[in-house]
Amino acid sequence: MKGIILAGGSATRLYPLSKAISKQIMPVYDKPMIYYPLSTLMLAGIREVLIISTPRDLPMFEELLGDGSRLGMRFSYKVQMVPNGLAQAFVLGREFLAGEPGCLILGDNMFYGQHFASMLREAAQSVLDGGACIFGYEVADPRAYGVVEFDKDGKVLSLEEKPEHPKSNYAVPGLYFYDRTVCDKAADLKPSARGEYEITDLNKLYLAEGTLKVKLFSRGFAWLDTGNCDSLLDAGNFIATIQNRQGFYVSCIEEIAWRNGWITTEQLAELGKGIKTAYGRYLERLATKGR
Ligand code: G1P
Repeated sequence: MKGIILAGGSATRLYPLSKAISKQIMPVYDKPMIYYPLSTLMLAGIREVLIISTPRDLPMFEELLGDGSRLGMRFSYKVQMVPNGLAQAFVLGREFLAGEPGCLILGDNMFYGQHFASMLREAAQSVLDGGACIFGYEVADPRAYGVVEFDKDGKVLSLEEKPEHPKSNYAVPGLYFYDRTVCDKAADLKPSARGEYEITDLNKLYLAEGTLKVKLFSRGFAWLDTGNCDSLLDAGNFIATIQNRQGFYVSCIEEIAWRNGWITTEQLAELGKGIKTAYGRYLERLATKGR
């Protein structure tokens, strides 16, 4: 399983913050936003990641993340010339996936909660023999999202993108696991009424095929929005509250690489030494305590 992070778009709702830089590079408390979706892929056990962004922003991600070797990972980069829909990730990512199953995460989607890693690994496992696995998350107002409707037995009845009159309160977060047919399916999509290759249309193909699975996040799990200044600030405060209370960092990519066994304790200590902030001291402390 390989991973794709889509970090494009112009983030007009964050203007003027986003006038000169990518939203996904902005700080969420103490880390660039993209660390959070990257850590989700890492928790799913994914070591090879493609980062897709605009011609303007891609070099900044390359500078931030490099080739991934310091985390025992491999990162590749691809430009999306025109922001014409999320499903395009699998047209641009065809060569990268090279026939393997793929997980797509949107560069502004942040998740936090117990048992997340095991949920991710189950989702990844569940598409190895075919199909897709997406998630449902209950929100008060789902109109800004993809919405999934179930019958009383939990069977998926419909999927709709940003419906005016949602059929349920279950939004579909920007985290999707697909089997190896995903690139062929994405290549056949037609643009929607708003001119975009919709991820919801891709998911509908799996629904029609009878191979779409939906896992529900439970009450108390956090799927955070970073779409406007208030939600961005809230997300930062949320991370600060959790981190400062327990002393564990959220979405610390070096820590996850180490816990996954992708880098050694010595490498972790070395990475910590190179960072002159509390973040670096945290890595050194982990290395001293040991796994
Ligand atoms: C996209 C998807 C939508 C999904 C959402 C999650 O919308 O089209 O289905 O629910 O991401 O963040 P966007 O936020 O790009 O408008």
